[in-house]
Amino acid sequence: MTKPFIQDLVNDMTLDEKLAQLTQLGPYYWGLDDTVDLTGPFKELNIEPQVIKSIGSVLNGIGARNVIELQTRHLESSRLKIPLIFMADVIHGYRTILPIPLAMGCSFDLDACEQFAEVAARESAAAGIHLTFSPMTDLVRDPRWGRVMETSGEDPYLNARVTESMVRGYQGKDLKEPGRIAACVKHFAGYGAPEGGREYNTVDMSTGVLREFYLPAYKAAVDAGVAMVMAAFNTIDRIPSSGNSKLLRGILREEWGFDGVTIADFNSVNELVPHGAAQDGREAALKSLVAGLDIEMMSTHYLNHASSLVQEGLLDLRLIDEAVTRVLELKDALGLFDNPFKDADPVADEADKPSPEHLQAAREMGARSIVLLKNEGGVLPLKRGMKIGLAGPFATSINVLGGWAGTEKDPAVSLYTGITGKIPAADLLTAMTGELGSMLEGVFDVEDASEAAYEQLKDCDVILAAVGENQQDTGEGGSKASLRLSANQEKLIHRLKATGKPVVTIVFSGRPLELAPVLESSDALVQAWFLGTESGNSIADVLFGDYNPSGRLSMSFPYSVGQIPVYYNAYQTGRPYDPQYPNVRYVTRYLDIPNDPLFCFGYGLSYSTFAYSGFTVEAAADGKVLASIQVENTSEVTGKETVQLYIRDVTASVVRPGKELKGFKQITLAPHEKQTVSFEITRDMLMFYGQEDQLVFEPGDFDIMLGANSGDHSTQRIWIG
Ligand code: GLC
Repeated sequence: MTKPFIQDLVNDMTLDEKLAQLTQLGPYYWGLDDTVDLTGPFKELNIEPQVIKSIGSVLNGIGARNVIELQTRHLESSRLKIPLIFMADVIHGYRTILPIPLAMGCSFDLDACEQFAEVAARESAAAGIHLTFSPMTDLVRDPRWGRVMETSGEDPYLNARVTESMVRGYQGKDLKEPGRIAACVKHFAGYGAPEGGREYNTVDMSTGVLREFYLPAYKAAVDAGVAMVMAAFNTIDRIPSSGNSKLLRGILREEWGFDGVTIADFNSVNELVPHGAAQDGREAALKSLVAGLDIEMMSTHYLNHASSLVQEGLLDLRLIDEAVTRVLELKDALGLFDNPFKDADPVADEADKPSPEHLQAAREMGARSIVLLKNEGGVLPLKRGMKIGLAGPFATSINVLGGWAGTEKDPAVSLYTGITGKIPAADLLTAMTGELGSMLEGVFDVEDASEAAYEQLKDCDVILAAVGENQQDTGEGGSKASLRLSANQEKLIHRLKATGKPVVTIVFSGRPLELAPVLESSDALVQAWFLGTESGNSIADVLFGDYNPSGRLSMSFPYSVGQIPVYYNAYQTGRPYDPQYPNVRYVTRYLDIPNDPLFCFGYGLSYSTFAYSGFTVEAAADGKVLASIQVENTSEVTGKETVQLYIRDVTASVVRPGKELKGFKQITLAPHEKQTVSFEITRDMLMFYGQEDQLVFEPGDFDIMLGANSGDHSTQRIWIG
């Protein structure tokens, strides 16, 4: 029910004031320097200066003092005293930069994901931010796409759980609460599936695939009460999302009951024209408003054309009033009419460093996100007193915050600093530490100093190779056709292996890279992602066993870029490959590489070892199914295991995935401790989109799988009626 004062405001507003309320511009237009680089095409928007007085929201205007000044000046000149709302890209932390979301997905730790958002919200709120364009929850299957770093991975169930946790962490129970900000789930919908992994390329998929894999996490955000939804750049069924009524009104509002605000992506209303879906800005404005897109970001076709569209009877004024009402209701939910500065706090915002509590939280989140992929002969954990060699472009680098790293005010802890926080510097020798530049600057490799590194480090007890990709080559506009480490980084690893000493390869990346070429030369392999401000400490905690690695892959690592898209929950085919008969030709296979990824979804090692036994599946009286399994820690080290539940619907009216994650539980076991882990399987967990796009349950045989990851589990078949 719309509050009377909001209804009165809408009635008092002129049409131009309404259209300005539906427009978002960067702080540049208020004469403030851009506090952050604006993304996307940035062009003159041919608007009159006095329009600025009625604009509704600011993109990436950050900093408590900036916000207070801008809001104050705005309210002085605003006729109706409607406060601005400040929105920004806080993707993985604001002052305390946290692990990239793809790494957080690997934590499989929903409490940590909620805390991730709470830390970011507190710091953002102090900086005057009211809403963050996060969580980004685009499902991804193609690591060539640079923005895989921003999402939690390839699985709809995991993405949904992580997304709802983050919405709760950002928003809390009441947006007016101090330290809470509104969240905006993005990019609706399917932006993570561009053909060829090429940024901004066409997205094309069946409705069934869209609904089965790509939509669930956005819906989880809506069900968790997310305040805003951002439309994606891409088309869905040949219609750009920003002008797609089926998506924005049909699914989002009518089916899911979303009553919050929708916003364009940067310039995406205008981009209906180059898409060829609108003749000009006027038609783009018409299509977007009719489709239900409330706020236009960084283009001004609503402002320049909607008024005449209404006057000519082509656009119903009610659509504009509904959109304006939603925007004012969001401002009211944040308490901005009573306190237009909300939590802006220059003292907190300008503290000389993030709080120790936040840094500690970041350090722990980082450790939980690291995935141990190989540990031959127990090379790890390292022992104090060892002579350790450290080489590679990420050995001493502080450029490990990750893309979209907000303010970048505080340098990250380098791996070198993290390690020397554990052992005397005299026990740590370095070599070939020259940093890797960005491909955007034409740099595609590091200087080769592998022979010198060989000589300098050959007498060490163990050698660490800190390798990866430049963080600027990930994120938006960061698509790559090759996923291998650069030639001289691969060469370094092979030369270090030639010393005969154990080599621990540590990978800094914003995506799964192609690591098969260096797997043999790596006795241990650690996926360290980009972990933000506390990066070096988080990695050192794992390397020295002060944190027993518990991360599990939220995205498959391809054996080769030629496999892509490679993901665990693929549909069954008519000619499945049977590894027992590797030479059969006419089955789904490659002649030159395996079908399986190098490392599968859900995979990750620990310093502990776990044994599974006693797997039972039984139908319960109330029609549910109970699956249980016993897990034992068979090592001498306390460790955390993520028990994963997968199911397969063996036969159905449409083909079904070979397996789908339907649950996971993290347990911590002391040495030789055993614990039985149980899951309840209900019919709604087994529902899927049938041929008529309706959610259905079909009785039949189901394979129930419980185990350590998507490639290592026990299976039992049961009929469920
Ligand atoms: C960018 C991104 C989007 C971001 C927006 C505002 O182009 O696609 O994720 O929130 O513009 O910066």
